[in-house]
Amino acid sequence: MTFYSRIRPLAFRLPPELAHGLGKRALRAAQATRPTRAALERRYRYAHPALEVDLFGETFPNPVGVAAGFDKNAEVTHALAALGFGFVEIGTVTPYPQPGNRKPRLFRLEDDEAMINRMGFNGDGMERVRTRLEADGTPEVPIGVNVGKMNTSGETEALEDYRRVFDRLSGYADYVVVNVSCPNTPDEFDEGSPEHLRAIFETLEAENDTGVPMLVKIGPDSPDESVLELLEIVEAFDLDGIVATNTTTSREGLTAAGRDEWGGLSGKPLEDPATSVVRLLAEHTDLPIVGVGGVDSAESAYEKIRAGASLVQLYTGFVYNGPATAREINRGLIELLERDGFSSVEEAVGADLE
Ligand SMILES: Cc1cc2nc3c(=O)[nH]c(=O)nc-3n(C[C@H](O)[C@H](O)[C@H](O)COP(=O)(O)O)c2cc1C
Repeated sequence: MTFYSRIRPLAFRLPPELAHGLGKRALRAAQATRPTRAALERRYRYAHPALEVDLFGETFPNPVGVAAGFDKNAEVTHALAALGFGFVEIGTVTPYPQPGNRKPRLFRLEDDEAMINRMGFNGDGMERVRTRLEADGTPEVPIGVNVGKMNTSGETEALEDYRRVFDRLSGYADYVVVNVSCPNTPDEFDEGSPEHLRAIFETLEAENDTGVPMLVKIGPDSPDESVLELLEIVEAFDLDGIVATNTTTSREGLTAAGRDEWGGLSGKPLEDPATSVVRLLAEHTDLPIVGVGGVDSAESAYEKIRAGASLVQLYTGFVYNGPATAREINRGLIELLERDGFSSVEEAVGADLE
C-alpha cells in the first residue's frame, strides 16, 4: 500500500477545493527548505536520458508536465519539479486578481475517475504572480505561463488583457499559452472565433520582442473543421505549438453522482476525445503538440505520444494518483519504449500516425 492510497480516502472526504488547498500548503512547506525539497527529489524524481525532450529551445527532463489550473499562482513550482514532473504550466493568470465563481465549484466524480470544475479563472492576478516568481525563482524544469483575460472583458479589452499579462510574465516563461478554451468563464463574445484569434496573435506577436515560444490551448468540443481552421491561423502566425485539450462540456457515459454539475469535465472520460484532437492535429501539422486530458498512467501518456504529442500534461490524474504520479508514468514509459524498440520518447512521437 502506498502512502497516498492510505491518505486518499481521508483527503477525498474533504471538499475538493479544501483538499487541493491543503495539498498545496503541504507542497509549499516542502519546497521551502533545501532538505525537504531534496527529500522529495530522492523519493519521487525519476531520470533517464531516453525521457528527455528538446523543444522550444529547452531540454525537458521528461515529457510529463503539470497542466494549467493546478498551480494557478505559481506557489508550488519547485515542489512539482521535485516530484519529478518534467515541466510546470502555471496559470491561467489574469491581469488583476479575480475571485472566480461561487463555491462549490470543483467536484470529484470518483466512479468515473473524473472531475468537474467551474472555477472561473480565480487567481491572484499577474502582479502577485510576478512577485512570487521573482522571490521564489523559477524551477529547474521548464515553466509555461498560461495567460487569460478577465471575465468581464469584452473583445477589445481582452486583447489588452492578454498583452499585459504577456508583457509582465513572459520573461519568466519558457513558453506562453494563450488560453481561449475555458468552458466555464462567461461568454462575453466568441473567444475562439477566427477574427478574435487573429487579433490576439497579432497583438502578442507585436509584443514578443524576445521570441518566447507561443502556444494556444484548444478545447475538445469543436468540430474537426473548426480545429483545422484554427490550425491554419496558428500556422499563418508562426505560433510554436498547440496544447490539446482543455476540459469538455460533454457528459457522455458518466455514471457518478455529480455528473450534472455545470462546468468543464476532466480526467478519464476526456482521455479519448483529447487524444483524437491530438491525432487530428498531428495528421495535419508538424507543429509540436502538448497532449492533455485523462493522462494518468504510462499507457495513457504513451498513447498521446504515439498519437503525436511531444509532451503530455495532467491535472486530474495527479489528484487521483498522488505524489508518485510522474515517477510511475516515467518509469512505465521507459518500459514501453524498450518493449517497442524506441530509443527515446522523441522517437515514439507520432508512431501511430499513418
Ligand atoms: C480544477 C481545474 C482547474 C483548471 N484550470 C485551468 C486553467 O486555469 N487554465 C487552463 O488552461 N486549464 C485549466 N484546467 C484544465 C487542465 O489544464 C486540463 O486541460 C484538463 O483538466 C484536462 O486534463 P486532465 O484530464 O489531466 O485533468 C483546469 C482543470 C481543473 C480540473
